[in-house]
Amino acid sequence: MVGVRGPSGSGKTTLLLLLAGLDRPTQGDVWLNGHTLHEHGENVRQQIGFVFQHFGLISYLTATENVALPLPARLPAREDIQGRARASLAEVGLEEVSERLVEDLSGGQQQRVAVARGLIGEPDLVLADESTSELDAENRANVIALLARRARDGGIVIASSDDSDLLDACDRIFDLANGRLTLVSPKVRA
Ligand SMILES: Nc1ncnc2c1ncn2[C@@H]1O[C@H](COP(=O)(O)OP(=O)(O)O)[C@@H](O)[C@H]1O
Ligand SMILES: [Mg+2]
Repeated sequence: MVGVRGPSGSGKTTLLLLLAGLDRPTQGDVWLNGHTLHEHGENVRQQIGFVFQHFGLISYLTATENVALPLPARLPAREDIQGRARASLAEVGLEEVSERLVEDLSGGQQQRVAVARGLIGEPDLVLADESTSELDAENRANVIALLARRARDGGIVIASSDDSDLLDACDRIFDLANGRLTLVSPKVRA
């Protein structure tokens, strides 16, 4: 689990969008397992979980429908997509609003829908952009625990944040400034 810190405007969102193949670098390439993202193609991009800073939810769909969006590309056919989406929402404490339109949910609830969608299907790589910014203490701790669990279970989580509790849960922390990452905290997992 990797944390990326940096002041507003330092490029955290830009970096995560580049890593996900959702933006294109003007210079250089993104490499994954010896191949560029471009060489990997669409298939790999569909396996990356992304928690957008401004949630990126589809307002006229329910919470369950939003969380289910990445699943068809990640699961074998005939899996219980609705059931998996509802279980993922339950993990972020949103069981009771799972059938509501996301536009009727609070900011904090929408952020938790975004987290559930980023983690669903247990992607090998999760990119989480300021994904605790709208949450109260209890939900913050829960989201941090879910991200840490994905890392413990073998995933890679890259999280931009200035949340000190989230950064404490990271194995490594980088500062982003002037377009460069500097390692500030190497921690060895106990
Ligand atoms: N390394 C970079 N190269 C090109 N543009 C950048 C770079 N870093 C930041 N920017 C630009 O700066 C602005 C803010 O970046 P953003 O990624 O939203 O920052 P943050 O998420 O840290 O607040 C964006 O318009 C982005 O295009
Ligand atoms: Mg940002």
